[in-house]
This record gives sequence, C-alpha cells and structure tokens, in this order.
Amino acid sequence: MEIYKNPTAPIASRVEDLLQRMTLEEKVGQTNQLVGVEHFRHNLGVMNAGDLFRNTAQAIYVGCEPEDLEAWTQQGRVGSFLHVNTIEEANRLQHLAMQSRLAVPLLFGIDAIHGNAYCRDNTVYPGNLGLACSFNVELARRIARQTAAEMRAMNMHWTFNPNVEVARDARWGRCGETYGEDCYLVTRMGVATVEGLQGKLDSEADVMACAKHWVGGSLPENGTNGSPADMSERTLRTTFFPPFKAAVDAGVATVMPSHNELNGVPCHSNRWLMTDVLRGEWGFDGFVVSDWMDIEHVHDLHGTAETVEDAYRQSITAGMDMHMHGPGWVDAVCQLVRDGVISEERIDESVRRILTMKFRLGLFEHPYADEAKTMQVRLCQEHRRTALEAARQSIVLLKNSGLLPLDAKRVGKILVTGINANDENIMGDWSAQQRAENVITVLDGVRSLASEDAEVMYVDQGWDPRNMNPAMVERAAQAAREADVNIVVAGEYMMRWRWHDRTCGEDTDRSDIDLVGLQNELIERVAASGKPTVLVLINGRPLGIERVAGKVSAIVEAWESGMCGGQAIAEILFGKVNPSAKLSITIPHSVGQLRSYYDHKPSMYFHPYVCAPSEPLFPFGYGLSYTQYAYSNLSLSGEIDADGNGQIDVAVTVANTGKRDGVEIVQLYIRDEYSTFTRPVKELKDFARVELKAGGKKRVHFILTADKLAMLDGNFAPVVEPGGFVVMVGSSSRDCDLLKSRFVVKKK
Ligand code: BGC
Repeated sequence: MEIYKNPTAPIASRVEDLLQRMTLEEKVGQTNQLVGVEHFRHNLGVMNAGDLFRNTAQAIYVGCEPEDLEAWTQQGRVGSFLHVNTIEEANRLQHLAMQSRLAVPLLFGIDAIHGNAYCRDNTVYPGNLGLACSFNVELARRIARQTAAEMRAMNMHWTFNPNVEVARDARWGRCGETYGEDCYLVTRMGVATVEGLQGKLDSEADVMACAKHWVGGSLPENGTNGSPADMSERTLRTTFFPPFKAAVDAGVATVMPSHNELNGVPCHSNRWLMTDVLRGEWGFDGFVVSDWMDIEHVHDLHGTAETVEDAYRQSITAGMDMHMHGPGWVDAVCQLVRDGVISEERIDESVRRILTMKFRLGLFEHPYADEAKTMQVRLCQEHRRTALEAARQSIVLLKNSGLLPLDAKRVGKILVTGINANDENIMGDWSAQQRAENVITVLDGVRSLASEDAEVMYVDQGWDPRNMNPAMVERAAQAAREADVNIVVAGEYMMRWRWHDRTCGEDTDRSDIDLVGLQNELIERVAASGKPTVLVLINGRPLGIERVAGKVSAIVEAWESGMCGGQAIAEILFGKVNPSAKLSITIPHSVGQLRSYYDHKPSMYFHPYVCAPSEPLFPFGYGLSYTQYAYSNLSLSGEIDADGNGQIDVAVTVANTGKRDGVEIVQLYIRDEYSTFTRPVKELKDFARVELKAGGKKRVHFILTADKLAMLDGNFAPVVEPGGFVVMVGSSSRDCDLLKSRFVVKKK
C-alpha cells in the first residue's frame, strides 16, 4: 500500500509520500477552492460577470458549465468547495474527487457562523454578538462542539468562523458576526469557539476553524465593509492582534485575511501580516485561505498589481495558501511556476499545510457522511435545548420602568406588532431559510406563554423595514388603545436570501444607525396610546434608538437570537427567565457619537460634545435583571512586581438583594495610572457569571497576573511598568457601577 493511504503511518510521512506523487496541476489543485456546483447552477442565468465583481455571496463562473466543475474535481484540480449546502451534494462531489488519480478527498468549507445555519435543517444558535453578551465562554464552546457535530453529519469539515475582529464602528454591517468591542471578551469567546470546533482536530467529530478577518476590517473608514483601515502598529498590536494571536495559540487550523487594505497594503498581498507576524512571530502552522475573490481585488480594486497573474504572484509570495475562489487560478498559477516566477517549493509548502489538515480530519479514511444517519445529529433535542439556553443568556434587558416581567394572569389583551414580530429574520445573518416549524418567532413565543384567557392581537407590518405600510402603522396605533400591553418588535433585516433588501449584515453598512423606515413612527404611535409598551430589538449592530427610548416602558435587546429566540424573548417578557446578559458592545445615542467604545483613551472626552451627551445611551457591560445586586468589600491581596512575579487576588462580595434568583455577570477592569504610552481609561481583564439565589451572597475571586497588566513597550514587547493600578469591579463599565481599589507594582 502507498504510504499516504496507510492510516497508521505518521501524518508527516503520508503528506510527503503523497506530495511527491503529485503533478504540478494536482498540487495547485489542492490550493483551489470553488463554489459548489448547485450554487453555481442556481446562479446561471441570474448573474453576470458584473454582478460577480461586487457580490460577495453569490458566484458564477463566466464561460463555464456546472459539468466543468465536476470534471475538474475528477481530474484532481479542485482541493475544496464552499457553499455546498446539502449532504447529498457534498457526498456526490466527494465521490468524484475519490475517482481522481490519487483519490485526494475534498475539504468542504461553509460559513457555519452560529450553528451550521447556512444549510437547511440545522440548529440555529444566537449570533456571535448576542452570544458574547452571555459572557459565557463554556456555552460558546458547547455551541461550537455541537456545530462541529452537525457539520460533520453533513460531510462539512471547515467553518469560516470565528470572526475575532474587535468591532469598533456600529455603521459596519458585520458587527453581529463578531463578539463585540472588547479585545479580552473577543479573545475569550474566540478561543472557546476554536477549541470547541476543532477539538484535537483528529477525529470525525472535529472541524477546522478559521480566524478571520486578518485584520483591520472592523475599523473601516466610514464604516463600510472592506474600506481601508489605517491605524498605528500600536493600536493593531494592542487591540486587534490579540484575539488572532490567541486563536493561533489555541491551534486554529486556518486564517482568512480581510478584504481591506491596511496602512496602504492590501491584506491579501500583505507579507507582514500573512508571513512575518502570523508564522514568524506566532508560529502559525495551519493554512491561509483568501477571502472571496480578494486576491483578484489586489489587481481590480486596490490596483497594486497590474494583472490578475501578478496579484496571484504577490499573494502567494506574501503567504497565501488557498484561493477562494474561481476557475482561472490553477492554470495561471501553474504557468507562474513554469515561468519561474513562483517556485514549486513555495507551492509545496501550501499543499503540505492543506494535506496535513485533510489527514488530521481523517478524510482519507472517512470521505463521506452517512445520509441515513444525518438527521440523528442535526436539530436533535440536545442542540435545540442549547440554542434556547443560549438565547436566554444573550438577551439584554436595557430598560425597565417596572413593566416587566408581565404577569401572564393579569394581561388580558396584548398587541404584538413590528417587522420582526413574526419573521424568520430572528435567526440572524448567515441563516438560510429554515422550515417554519423550526423557527420560533416572538409572536409564537408570546402566544404560547400568554394565559389561555388572554387575547394576543397581531398587526402585521411585513418583514421589510424599507417598505412599511402607513396604513398598518395606523392600524397598530388603533389596536394599541385596546391593548393592556404593547410589544413592538423592531430592528434590522438580515436574511441573506433577500440580499438587496437587507439593512444589516455583510456589505450592508449604514451612514446612520437609526431604525429604518416607519419603525420610529410605529413605536411612537403605539406608545402614544398611553398603554405600556415594550420595545424588542432584533438586530446585528447597535442601533441609535434615542428617539424612542424615552417613550417606551421597557427595552429588550435580543440581537440575532436564533431559531429559539422567540421563545426566549417571551420567557423574559413573562418572567419565566430572569435576564442576565450584558452588552458586548456600546450602544451610542446616535451615529454622531461614533466611534463609541468604553476603553477609550483618557483625552477622548476631555472636551465633551455640546448639544448632545458624550456618554453612550447604554455602555459596554450594561444589562438589567429582575432582581438587584449589591457589591461590597472589594479587597486586594498579594503583589505583582515589575519582573512580572506574583499575583493579586481580587475579591468582592456580590449580594442578590431582590426577590428573584439570578445570574450576575461580574466584571473586572483595570486602569494603569501612569504609563509610558497612553492607555485606556478602563480595560476589561476578567469576568465571572455568578449564580445567586434571592437573598443570597457570594464572595467572588479573581486572580490578576502580570500579563493582564502589561502594555507594549517601544518595541512592542509586553512590559509591566511600576506604579499604581486601579482595579474596578462591578456590574458594567460605567463608573457609577464599579467599586474601586488600587495597588502598586513596585520597582525592580
Ligand atoms: C466573507 C467571508 C466569508 C466568505 C465565504 C466573504 O464575502 O467576507 O467572511 O467566509 O465570503 O462566504
């Protein structure tokens, strides 16, 4: 038997054995990713080359037929597919690959961003931004593990997740894919997700993760996706690099560069990012996959390569391993090698990295998934329970003037209205259409939890915020007068299958962050009824709701809460669940406050705005509960010296002084009082979810170590400078919610 076919041979030997059998075309074929045949077939006749240039979700290959893709697969000229959405297609294409000369299996990559939601009949968990509001790292790990299981049950091996960018501009439509604005929280959630997805990356339960987008795209000029990022190396290394570094340390298998240029160099041809930092400094040993046609954009958009071929050269020499996506790559790259422009050794490096992953995933031994068993895993009860639990933990109660929780026995008439009241949009971006019976809308949830005697009135506002009907707004305003309580479910529209109708999500950036369409009017008219009104928001970015925030009695920020979201929201409205989530991202008053984030530098609001507040509407870390918590006795013990030795034990007593059991998310921030380089007014360094019975209290401990105090010196090496540090512990990033104490790092 050939060594590469021997499952007991060491992976490195299998890779070398296979590599030396491959022709140049077969090698480059391994670096070639294409969109799925059915995806392509569906777009034939719908798209043209011009559409392809701008569309980052749908593709066709001009001049090709679906059969060409199949033939190339059989010829060993394709290493991976993306956007294959069914197990049948995955198995079928795999079967073709297994007929190729060397029978090298395909890798199927998919954007399983919150569950394998991009494919039908999978569990749709809450989106990342909402999930981060749970501050529940173990929950993120569990969801990732379950997602991996559902993916492998469909013969999918690789998700383009987690997005570990630090979101810094609410205009950017992709905030919802991230874990929010804080580097530490993003890092913790990102690492748990990588670990959950990958396991040890050595079994059929594991899939490859992809840390993306590397880097700067979450701080785009003007907030538009893919626009230039221009920032200092200090900012990059302090705020934007750490989640990627941590993902690499956690063994992430792949990294995807971002669309944008960074400081004048497109990320897709950026040697500093892809090779010097990633591999040289951090020891990354997985492979780099390009984002959607972004190597081509080095030529046709950024204009730093005169030809596509030169863009390929630049990208490969800078460290690119796999091309997403397109039919011209294989021949062009082979020619570059034949012309001596790129060495074959360089191609070998990439192929080695890709093959190593295929062996680790066990694809040579198990290239298929069992179609008869697939539904035993997908959407199973355990996964649905996790999706519900995650939704409960992700929903943030922002305002409550005593209205919530609603007493199901006492509310006779409930009005439910708003564009998101009864729509699958609650699942969030990166969800395909799912069967209606698998999606619980807010209306479903309210109906199931309201008492049998209650009347639930529903006034349909359609799903499309840009095309709301004034007559239906009027009808809701009238119905509100008859109701005991009104629930308006507003927000954004994110469903990808109506790509041009969305208001939030990828390539859906906004120049303001207000509610779109007649939504403000709807809320105002309903609230003007004088009957108590709850505003529920479903959205993937912070919304500037200042116009209506003062007019409603309660605000529930539900984010993209997944297929069980409606049930979790209703449980919170009716008090079956006590909300515990805290904001993973600041909610500004308006677009004019952007960029708005809690860990700003000391001088940021030295001169505050006139005519408008400088503080945000709701700060990072903020969220209400149906009970109250009291913090006391913050104490510090131990010491840390400037050599980095020692540790500080931070302890605080947290008491549940209200009448309901709850979970409080206790947050620890530090501030370096004086430092060589400026540092933020606060930096989150730890958090804990603390369960507290009504009337109960606990002493909560955190350990501060030197790495948490460190800043980067002039050479970007971590250093702990002597001097005072303030420790702040409490229920949000807001000063009035924090107890403070101080310690001193002594000179050496
Ligand atoms: C996005 C990536 C995604 C890829 C494949 C791109 O447009 O930027 O995040 O993984 O498409 O769907």
